[in-house]
Amino acid sequence: MTAASDSSGGPAGPADEPVRWQRALVTGASSGIGRAFARLLAARGTDLVITARDGHRLRALAGELRESGGGSAGVDVEVIVADLADRERLDVLVDRLEAEDSPIDLLVNNAGFGFSGDFITLDRDGETAVVDVNIVALHRLAHAAGTAMSARGRGGILNVSSIVGSGPAPRAATYAATKAFVTSFSEALHVELGPQGVTVSCLCPGLTRTEFQDRAGSDSSRTPDFLWQSAEDVAAAGLAGLDRGRAVVVPGAHNKILSAGIGLAPITLIDRVRRRFR
Ligand SMILES: NC(=O)c1ccc[n+]([C@@H]2O[C@H](COP(=O)([O-])OP(=O)(O)OC[C@H]3O[C@@H](n4cnc5c(N)ncnc54)[C@H](OP(=O)(O)O)[C@@H]3O)[C@@H](O)[C@H]2O)c1
Repeated sequence: MTAASDSSGGPAGPADEPVRWQRALVTGASSGIGRAFARLLAARGTDLVITARDGHRLRALAGELRESGGGSAGVDVEVIVADLADRERLDVLVDRLEAEDSPIDLLVNNAGFGFSGDFITLDRDGETAVVDVNIVALHRLAHAAGTAMSARGRGGILNVSSIVGSGPAPRAATYAATKAFVTSFSEALHVELGPQGVTVSCLCPGLTRTEFQDRAGSDSSRTPDFLWQSAEDVAAAGLAGLDRGRAVVVPGAHNKILSAGIGLAPITLIDRVRRRFR
């Protein structure tokens, strides 16, 4: 993958000028990096559509953002509770992205998860759900957003991948493969949609302190501190990269090195290093 590339078009502004997105749909906004995206966008005055399965957390976040976002005027926040692995609920989001009223000009395809362990020891339905959420939902939402935004001649799509997607990962086989899809897919869309005014960027975080590791069933107690980033720093890097029209954004110098290493090193070496620290 390319570390960064110039935008082929779209609303990306000069390096230090944040793009003024009107309304963003953020998936996986109930925790972690998605919640950080929602807070950062609200602070810029961007209206929001936030979605995840946990309606209680989404409504609490919506209340916080309406009060704090965008200064005294506040921001408009819609909540859509949806399991992205459920095609009917997913298509509610597809319809929202295609709606002409209160149009969405930024899609943040952030929701995702994975499980740690040897593939055949993991629950089959759980592994299928990883593919449904990380690939099928992201893909379908990107199609709806790309279609609507290119018709309007303006928009942005920020897909959240992972440095793990730079190569195969034993004991996270499905997760890493889904993220390889996200990165490859995003880089191709960056070239296709740029000339139509739609910037597509792919954010590839490394280890980030969120609920992800617990949900994955992963023991990260031996992982050195310097490898971790905060959800806020990762989300801020993603938005800055999108604003600059980057194809791929890898936050943090250590992650740029790891990402390149994962792409080049033999799988047996990567496996040995992962076993030592995880
Ligand atoms: N944390 C890391 O170390 C790390 C590293 C690289 C990449 N990433 C990527 O960053 C993204 C955000 O993860 P995170 O670290 O912020 O983890 P997180 O704190 O666990 O947040 C994941 C979000 O995804 C939502 N989600 C999960 N399954 C869903 C489903 N079936 N339908 C709808 N929403 C669902 C969750 O909401 P509900 O449970 O309320 O549905 C939650 O809001 C993911 O794509 C992840 O792969 C994370």
